[in-house]
Amino acid sequence: DSPKPPQSDLHSHTNSHISKYVSLIDRTSLCCANVNGKLTVCDGTKNFLSTTGNSEIQYNLMKTRYNNCDIVMGNLEITMMDHTRDFSFLESIKEVTGYILFAINEFSRLPLHHLRIIRGSTLYEDQYALAVMVNYQRDGEHGLQELGLTHLTGTQRVTHLMYRVCLTCGSLFFFFISEPCHKACGDVPCWGPGNDTCQILTKTVCAPQCSGRCFGRNPSECCHVECAGGCTGPKDTDCFACRNFNNSGSCVPQCPQTVIYNRLTYRMEPNPNAKYQYGSICVTQCPKIFVVDGSSCVSNCPSNKMEVEKNGVKTCEPCKGLCPKVCHGTSWTDSNSETVDARNIESFINCTKIQGSLNFLVTGIEGDDYNKVPPLDPEKLKIFNTVEEITGVYFLNIQSWPASMSDLSVFSNLQTIQGRKLYKSYALMVVKINSLTSLGLRSLQNINDGAVYIKGNKNLCYHDTVNWTRLLGSRPQKRSKLLDVTDNQKKGECGEWGRTI
Ligand SMILES: *[C@@H]1O[C@H](CO)[C@@H](O)[C@H](O)[C@H]1NC(C)=O
Ligand SMILES: *[C@@H]1O[C@H](CO)[C@@H](O)[C@H](O)[C@H]1NC(C)=O
Ligand SMILES: *[C@@H]1O[C@H](CO)[C@@H](O)[C@H](O)[C@H]1NC(C)=O
Ligand SMILES: *[C@@H]1O[C@H](CO)[C@@H](O)[C@H](O)[C@H]1NC(C)=O
Repeated sequence: DSPKPPQSDLHSHTNSHISKYVSLIDRTSLCCANVNGKLTVCDGTKNFLSTTGNSEIQYNLMKTRYNNCDIVMGNLEITMMDHTRDFSFLESIKEVTGYILFAINEFSRLPLHHLRIIRGSTLYEDQYALAVMVNYQRDGEHGLQELGLTHLTGTQRVTHLMYRVCLTCGSLFFFFISEPCHKACGDVPCWGPGNDTCQILTKTVCAPQCSGRCFGRNPSECCHVECAGGCTGPKDTDCFACRNFNNSGSCVPQCPQTVIYNRLTYRMEPNPNAKYQYGSICVTQCPKIFVVDGSSCVSNCPSNKMEVEKNGVKTCEPCKGLCPKVCHGTSWTDSNSETVDARNIESFINCTKIQGSLNFLVTGIEGDDYNKVPPLDPEKLKIFNTVEEITGVYFLNIQSWPASMSDLSVFSNLQTIQGRKLYKSYALMVVKINSLTSLGLRSLQNINDGAVYIKGNKNLCYHDTVNWTRLLGSRPQKRSKLLDVTDNQKKGECGEWGRTI
């Protein structure tokens, strides 16, 4: 009985043609690429088994993505490639921080000779750092024959039995089916049939004093504790790969911190020699597209922080209150989202700025039977409480509103409506909403461009207490062109209590 391959309906295929050498690795605590001074980092993918459907396009995208790449930040996924493809552009890859997936391909081998490490920071199906499956041609002779991962440093001697043991111990293993390895490998597993494809194993003959790995049998020939995958000598500079971080060639538990304790002044002080964690490497500066978050280089700030430029360095700083979040508004030209409705309302959660206009049409508020859109729950409109700014062509356009709501106070934090300079554009449009008795746009201070059109709202009061001149600012246009507030409730018929908008 052999170990279970990744769960997937693809495994209903028989095993007989599947790659001759299959490796499965469970959660690994592996380690480090061979890092030379200059490194190119590229983003991996997270497509799983889905593809564009066009193999040519997919191949070209992959080529652009991985050409000259040293470290793949994320997952390396190679799926549905036929046997004629040239993958020499993968040769530069030394490290993959997520998982590797080879599935449903027809080529016979991949040139990943320089790959030293699969970190497994994300795992395929939450389980596999390396998943290799169903790589053969359905009606032909082509298919994966060997994994050219000759530099990947294995850490365990592997047998079928070990696999089972190690499922729970959570370390690296390789398991092979069908084909015997070259006899030069002895009982060491291999990546392919040649005498040069034996796996590099380092843990076989250590003295018991070596808790991890060794470079000889003597008790004095243990690897440094910061090594992973083996070593050539006892020092932290002799490791094949680092357990934690590579600081200019030494394997260290953490990079030099940004603040250090000064024993003379009894204070924490900035460390002039600080470095940042960048994957498994300590660097003095984060690469261009990365942002400094504390002592790490990250590709994006976490959700409670925002990116700010500090002394020319992009840094993540905690937000005061909600972090700015720009969202796209609705669009006249896209019939799927011409109005805010029950389908898209959730996409406005936590938005502080709406890029584009916000339209409220009857098909959104009351639902649209034809397109099977249910009515919008008025409570959900409170999501717009976080919006501070709207910028677009038609801006805030209200042509329908829940009968139960007597104002627009869900926009009570809206401060600015500003737009592009378009002839005859409206900034604020509120038309024939009988439920409205007041506007309730408490924070509105600026309408930088576009006109105001508030018309035919027969119960709407207080509009005349608003200083529209102040809101519209100084503009070259005539006031009559900018402002049309007519056919609303007559002043005399409104209540006594004067409120602003
Ligand atoms: C591997 O095979 C090649 C050619 O078959 C031979 O020249 C070489 O000596 C072999 N190496 C080992 C380590 O057996
Ligand atoms: C650490 O990085 C240096 C380059 O800075 C590289 O030469 C060395 O091989 C790396 N060491 C390990 C163990 O990855
Ligand atoms: C909205 O922001 C809150 C507070 O920052 C956060 O807890 C929540 O997860 C965010 N929701 C979404 C959908 O972004
Ligand atoms: C409205 O605002 C303008 C500009 O801020 C100001 O000059 C004007 O006096 C205000 N009008 C009223 C009625 O308060």
